[in-house]
Amino acid sequence: LGKKGAISALLATLGKMSPDERKVQGAAINGLKDQVSEALAARRAVLKSAALEAQLAAEALDVTLPVRQPGIESGRIHPISQVLDELITIFADMGFSIAEGPDIESDDYNFTMLNFPPGHPAREMHDTFFFQASGTNERKLLRTHTSPVQVRTMLTQKPPIRIICPGRTYRTDSDQTHTPMFHQVEGLVIDKTANMGNLKWVLEEFCKAFFEVPKVAMRFRPSFFPFTSPSMEVDIQCRRSGDDIRFGEGEDWLEILGCGMVHANVLRNCGIDPEEFQGFAWGMGIDRIAMLKYGIPDLRDFFEGDVRWLDHYGFRPLDMPTLAGGLSG
Ligand code: DAH
Repeated sequence: LGKKGAISALLATLGKMSPDERKVQGAAINGLKDQVSEALAARRAVLKSAALEAQLAAEALDVTLPVRQPGIESGRIHPISQVLDELITIFADMGFSIAEGPDIESDDYNFTMLNFPPGHPAREMHDTFFFQASGTNERKLLRTHTSPVQVRTMLTQKPPIRIICPGRTYRTDSDQTHTPMFHQVEGLVIDKTANMGNLKWVLEEFCKAFFEVPKVAMRFRPSFFPFTSPSMEVDIQCRRSGDDIRFGEGEDWLEILGCGMVHANVLRNCGIDPEEFQGFAWGMGIDRIAMLKYGIPDLRDFFEGDVRWLDHYGFRPLDMPTLAGGLSG
């Protein structure tokens, strides 16, 4: 069909023909030209669809394969670490700093300085793990609460004091809601005017922020701790239906912490004059509020190290809790 092609050559012969001959030959040659053009078009269509088939086969994707996680997104943050980050975020925003103390404590800091006199029955309630005494040294223990960090802080810092102390604690106890090692967060405020109104406000703001609800009712019940007077236990309002639990609504109450005004004896033991300074403190189970917030039924699973459990209950490593962006993402 091209300029030098056979059909073009035939068409060129038409000029030299007589009119009658041209009529016949012209129709024949043009008919031939149409046939060849159609044959070319048909062949082109076959080749084009074969090329598409080949490309589709080469670029096939198995859409049933699971999505591969990018490297930085694999691995999970344990719910305890998540809740720790959440509560630090909340209390840091209120102006609290973090204090720490050792897991292995002296009897003095864990009990005596906190106004548990030797032989006091409140000591028995703590199910303490004691170490063997070595030589003439007093026997050490695994701290049964984070309250000894209050003592350590007051001995080394001058008021005003505003700290939280998160950490591990130990008691000889094990069932669905108790493990021998667990976590607490202690809070301590010491200054010249700190009072129960401030305490209630701090705890209420914390609960609203932590449970991510606009309001929450709390109930302060009288209780006893040797290191506070008055002492209270705090329940928060909730609604339970089956295994589900919601905060900020409902008619049920759930105990979440102990608190009170720091006992004058504790201030005095730590070299702070109770005539000049006063304060409040609280202690709360971190594992417990983690179970409540994230609906985790058995505490013992927290410490089994089962990666399938962590995959299910854990948090994505780059979703750091912030007050602005949301605590639990
Ligand atoms: N230490 C207490 C416990 O483990 C909890 C507690 C209660 C801490 C009242 C406090 C407080 O600071 O004021 O049972």
